[in-house]
Amino acid sequence: MTRISTPFNAKTTAYEILTGVDLTGRRIIVTGGASGIGLETVRALRGAGAEVTVATRHPTGGRRALDLSDPGSVRAFVDDWSGPVHVIVANAGIMALPARQVAANGWELQLATNFLGHFALITGLRENLRQAGDARVVMVSSGAQLRAPFDFDDPHFERRPYDPWVAYAQSKTADVLLAVGAARRWATDGITANALEPGYIHTNLQRHLDKDTMRAAGAMDDEGNLVTPDYYKTPEQGAATSVLLAGSPLLDGVTGRFFSSENQEAEVVRGGTGASAGVATWSVDPDAADRLWAYALTATAGH
Ligand SMILES: NC(=O)c1ccc[n+]([C@@H]2O[C@H](COP(=O)([O-])OP(=O)(O)OC[C@H]3O[C@@H](n4cnc5c(N)ncnc54)[C@H](OP(=O)(O)O)[C@@H]3O)[C@@H](O)[C@H]2O)c1
Repeated sequence: MTRISTPFNAKTTAYEILTGVDLTGRRIIVTGGASGIGLETVRALRGAGAEVTVATRHPTGGRRALDLSDPGSVRAFVDDWSGPVHVIVANAGIMALPARQVAANGWELQLATNFLGHFALITGLRENLRQAGDARVVMVSSGAQLRAPFDFDDPHFERRPYDPWVAYAQSKTADVLLAVGAARRWATDGITANALEPGYIHTNLQRHLDKDTMRAAGAMDDEGNLVTPDYYKTPEQGAATSVLLAGSPLLDGVTGRFFSSENQEAEVVRGGTGASAGVATWSVDPDAADRLWAYALTATAGH
């Protein structure tokens, strides 16, 4: 299968992606759209004329309430929605919580927020996506998906030792598998689903990282000031790949793919400690996608 390329690169901004693109009439939901790259995603999509609903835990100024770690909140959001939805950008996320935390229902919090909440939201709005005729699901994953497969035996770290990065990584692998699963199931309704890694961007996401980790990444100096290495992006650049998948005509009909922060379809590589770029085989494995879909359906049905 030929990899899809675009005329864009790692420095392209979300606004540049949508130059000359008219999204008038498109109804778009962006989770976590009140901060970080989600906020820039919302701005760029609105700038192109889309009607964007910002889903956030702190609804003010017309934003809608949504706590992805609370199945009741997801259900209320779904029940409240009427009419078609053309695009869901599953952007909200939390990263590397130092100690294992669980949602009220016992789910490990990164899996609950980054994956299971989004699964309930997207499957809950499936009929609304179908009504759009040409809907897109956009999963904001991460390069972290290269670090760990989804652990079907113990997804909530009830028996294995908790590791902040493994928990984040498996939730981001699950996000890619969700796109693969939706692509396999929903094509006949015109629904496409793709995933992406945005690159490295200074946002609130890093709030759980200690200074040593930030320094080791070259993102903080010895005095504790944030440093922006060359390979980092601005939030406007960080939102570019989300916006490419959500609104660019270049992606019409494209489904089940993973795009890198260079705004190109990524190479499929063997995941693990040696991998630094691409999408892991375990993140796009169709059998794992089907197994995860079945797991998530069962998990979310009872809540
Ligand atoms: N920044 C990077 O370098 C980077 C790299 C790879 C991937 N990503 C991915 O990019 C996405 C956006 O992250 P960001 O960097 O823009 O970080 P951010 O500024 O912290 O944004 C994350 C958003 O998620 C929301 N959120 C967290 N928990 C939620 C919950 N339970 N229910 C609903 N919303 C919730 C946050 O809302 P609150 O304001 O309520 O906390 C926030 O708006 C994430 O999925 C992240 O994994 C980012």
